[in-house]
Amino acid sequence: MKELNVAVIGAGFMGKAHSAAYAAMPMFFWPPPAIPIRKVIVDVTDALAEEARQRFGFQESATDWRETVNRSDIDLVDIVTPNDSHAEIAIAAAKAGKHIICEKPLARTGGEARLMLDAVERAGVIHMIAFNYRRTPAVALARRYLEDGRIGEILEFRVSHLQDWSADPKTPRTWRHQKAIAGSGTLGDIGTHAIDIARYLVGEIKAVNALVKNYIPSRPLGEESDLCGPVDVDDGAVTLVKFAGGCIGSIEATRNAHGRNNYLSFELHGTKGSLSFNYERRDELQVIFSDDPIDARGFRTVYTGPAHPYGKSYWPVPALGIGFLDTKIFECFDFISAIVRGDQPSPNFYDGYRISRIVDAILASGETGGWQEIAG
Ligand SMILES: NC(=O)c1ccc[n+]([C@@H]2O[C@H](COP(=O)([O-])OP(=O)(O)OC[C@H]3O[C@@H](n4cnc5c(N)ncnc54)[C@H](O)[C@@H]3O)[C@@H](O)[C@H]2O)c1
Repeated sequence: MKELNVAVIGAGFMGKAHSAAYAAMPMFFWPPPAIPIRKVIVDVTDALAEEARQRFGFQESATDWRETVNRSDIDLVDIVTPNDSHAEIAIAAAKAGKHIICEKPLARTGGEARLMLDAVERAGVIHMIAFNYRRTPAVALARRYLEDGRIGEILEFRVSHLQDWSADPKTPRTWRHQKAIAGSGTLGDIGTHAIDIARYLVGEIKAVNALVKNYIPSRPLGEESDLCGPVDVDDGAVTLVKFAGGCIGSIEATRNAHGRNNYLSFELHGTKGSLSFNYERRDELQVIFSDDPIDARGFRTVYTGPAHPYGKSYWPVPALGIGFLDTKIFECFDFISAIVRGDQPSPNFYDGYRISRIVDAILASGETGGWQEIAG
């Protein structure tokens, strides 16, 4: 069976999720398109990299990503570092001819993302951006209903990604609160997931008009520290959206929503029905068709399972519980399949680039207070 040697760069939260997905993917998707071999894991110190090697089941650990991406025995580079290093690593990996999956946001700005897109296109490698929420079976089912015409023409769409981990002003500053590392705040962090869902279900975004706020301009530098450092990124944004296809809608993102743990939700109204979803109840898609009997009007709950996207390879009964890791396993399967077939998966660096341009436009609109067309 074909094997692909994987180098994962970064051994934090996403390093763990992606490593677990490489290990688990062939257990569900058998025979797998290829077996991902956990070859090298890279982090900034020997101690971090070696601990990750043992914990995540890699053959080797390393501290120099440049040396690793240039190794002739590496087929696939997986970038799960903070946002400021995505471009440098991806461009070097593309030059070395490696297939690349990169975590979102693709880059800190649209300009940086463009350089990454140019590099992978020039090198002719397979590339993917890790917007895994669209691979939640209920979200993929919503897209299937739309493609099959069962919801009709899309009129209105609203999507929100709400979290509260950053709502407490005493929560210490992290790299996610610093523009130089993260590029933007809530928008790049979770707003990009909402934008990806919007483009996945509705299509390209043409123009935006946004209110963008920073609520907590400085934070402690550590759990025990009395010192504070500046927070120079957005905490929350509310955006009106014009889609290229004519649909109107809104996108909201905040990390200051007490009580909302990971509330990625959308509602879509079409000429033949409506769809509603909330990631905190991710096995369920709410749906109504306009020709439902008049005495049974209202949303019904469809519990995803074997009859739905990714379901055949998964559990034999609906509603056993899809989790975050499952969406990473589906992402891994789709990426490895694309490499073996030799065609580009979706979403790829082009989508990451477009989404970075949309974030830039939302931030610009927040400054100017007017509509911003999305730059090409
Ligand atoms: N898809 C999702 O749902 C999702 C969720 C969380 C994070 N992310 C994205 O994943 C990326 C990583 O986020 P995270 O939460 O895992 O961060 P993290 O801070 O938990 O981990 C980052 C790791 O990268 C290491 N690192 C930093 N610079 C490095 C370098 N030059 N070489 C090697 N290792 C380096 C750090 O030491 C750390 O171990 C970010 O771009 C983030 O936006 C995506």
